Amino acid sequence: MINAIDGPAASGKSTTAKLVGQKMNFLFIDTGAMYRAMALKAYKMGIDYEDSRLIKNIMLATVIDQKIDQDTGDTVTLLDKVDVSHEIRTPEISKGVTAVCEIKEVRDNLVEIQRNLGNKGNVILDGRDIGTVVFPNADLKFFMIADVDIRANRRFKEMQEKGMSSSLEDIKADIIRRDDRDSNRSNSPLKAAEDAILIDTSELTINEQVEFIIEKIKERS
Ligand code: CDP
Repeated sequence: MINAIDGPAASGKSTTAKLVGQKMNFLFIDTGAMYRAMALKAYKMGIDYEDSRLIKNIMLATVIDQKIDQDTGDTVTLLDKVDVSHEIRTPEISKGVTAVCEIKEVRDNLVEIQRNLGNKGNVILDGRDIGTVVFPNADLKFFMIADVDIRANRRFKEMQEKGMSSSLEDIKADIIRRDDRDSNRSNSPLKAAEDAILIDTSELTINEQVEFIIEKIKERS
């Protein structure tokens, strides 16, 4: 069974998908983390995020993968076999990922990895284009939204817990910038699939979101 969750930045997709995955024993694939890993590689090599020609070339010599950590149940993102799950969450990488993920070859390569992982069995994937491009025939598609101030507040708290210092204003500005660019790009824009179930998480708790999706999965299976 293939389950897709798409939606704008910080709408709660990853947190929800992770918990649904753990409760249902589904593999959780965090596609945004893969694009972030590619942006991290460009950052570490000192490459301009907008230099699509160079990034396209380094992509050919890059291996990105995901697996579940057996102890914590978390999805771990590997860049050239090294766990970069924490490093990819910094404001710097959030800034750079928007350009990197627009490169056609980067998308083609990562979408192929996502499809290979997804075709392994019961999965839940989160991203921007899962229900529209990666798995247009997914069994269930969700599109998660929330008020931008609520999203900014949630991300602010999350960053504080991780010990990263970013102001609420900067986080909100980054969310607005990314959503705008993600929605307006020509290749695989952020968009709800016609058959997606809309979930507004503004007034929901994580548990309510998780239970809603699990109910839909149970109805479907
Ligand atoms: O967790 P957050 O909502 O901040 O973002 P993310 O899911 O980690 O994704 C980071 C960025 O990768 C997004 O802002 C998009 O630009 C890009 N992305 C994409 O283009 N397609 C996807 N399937 C997933 C992410």
